[in-house]
Amino acid sequence: MLQDAGDEVAFGQGDLYLPVYWGAIPRAYLLPRMAFRQGMLSMIELNGGYNAHAESALLAAQNIGVQLSARPETGHRRMVVGEFEKLSHDCHRDVAQRALIAPRNSSRDVDKPMLKFLVFSDIHLVDTGATSHGLDTHSRFSAGIDWVNTHHADADFCVLAGDLADLGFQGATEPYQRLKDQVARLTVPCHITIGNHDNRDTFLAFFGEGLRAETGCIDKVIDAKGHRTILLDSVVEGPEHTHGGALSRAQLEWLAARLGEHPGPVNVILHHHANPLHTMVDRIRLEAPEAFAEVLKTHGDIRQVIAGHVHYTSTAMWHGIPFTTLAGSHYGVTVPLNGAERKIDRLWGPAQMAVVLCDDDQTLVHFENYLDGNPVLS
Ligand SMILES: [Fe+2]
Repeated sequence: MLQDAGDEVAFGQGDLYLPVYWGAIPRAYLLPRMAFRQGMLSMIELNGGYNAHAESALLAAQNIGVQLSARPETGHRRMVVGEFEKLSHDCHRDVAQRALIAPRNSSRDVDKPMLKFLVFSDIHLVDTGATSHGLDTHSRFSAGIDWVNTHHADADFCVLAGDLADLGFQGATEPYQRLKDQVARLTVPCHITIGNHDNRDTFLAFFGEGLRAETGCIDKVIDAKGHRTILLDSVVEGPEHTHGGALSRAQLEWLAARLGEHPGPVNVILHHHANPLHTMVDRIRLEAPEAFAEVLKTHGDIRQVIAGHVHYTSTAMWHGIPFTTLAGSHYGVTVPLNGAERKIDRLWGPAQMAVVLCDDDQTLVHFENYLDGNPVLS
């Protein structure tokens, strides 16, 4: 129970859990101006992300104790480390233990090892013997599978973020069997949603009706190592095919519920980009993106929203949330950024995947080109 305004300062707003003395006001200026109650007890509480600084924070706190011991009106006595450990253990066992045992060369939470997952997008598989824009998309994706099995066998899982088939929306079926054969070669678990070149029913006919969520779409939750990853199916199907995307009201409600039940870090993966990229691809952007952003903003720790679809790499902070696109497995494109609309050129490559690393401190997205036209210099 708070007794006065002073308690609100200590326990209320502005409670950052920062290491001692990370503020901008010098302690030599601050301490002489602070009034302390008789018999005051000090406590350090650190966010787990600052574990590497636990020891220096403890030393800084002990230094405060030394200075306050010279002021008899505080009734302060210096607490020895053993007492500190016992008190911390009794009061905040989990936080204190992690602070006291964290390795000095790492700020990672020892209880939650790093999550590593991979994202493929825009695979655009075609029938046997066919190509897409002159590219053998099957060979390109096969090279990506080989890349994962060779270099990322330690990944927790892999995500395919849509445009699995090039002409699924026009009735192609063989590409889904070819996709299934390639996915079977992966040595890491694989989770899949679809894009605007796909057909939902055809995909489910090959991969199983059980992948249809209660929303009627291919939405999914993956929980691993304290991080929740949510896949959203942004495909719009109807008599008039559009390459734009949308999330239904049922999907937004489902997303809100999945966010609400997991206070920890969340990554979201869907095919269509939601944030404006200010290029021609915004013509086929996710519909009603603001509604999507409003749902995301109900959660305080959305680490990344990752999309494919646009065939080029971008990263943005939109509505206070990080949004990323990856180039994907198909052709790349030039990106006119001079404000004047002009033709976008298709490029041979690269064939690109995202390698996402998540721990308590950050979610990091590497863009890895498993096929690249750049020659090796040395
Ligand atoms: Fe695509």
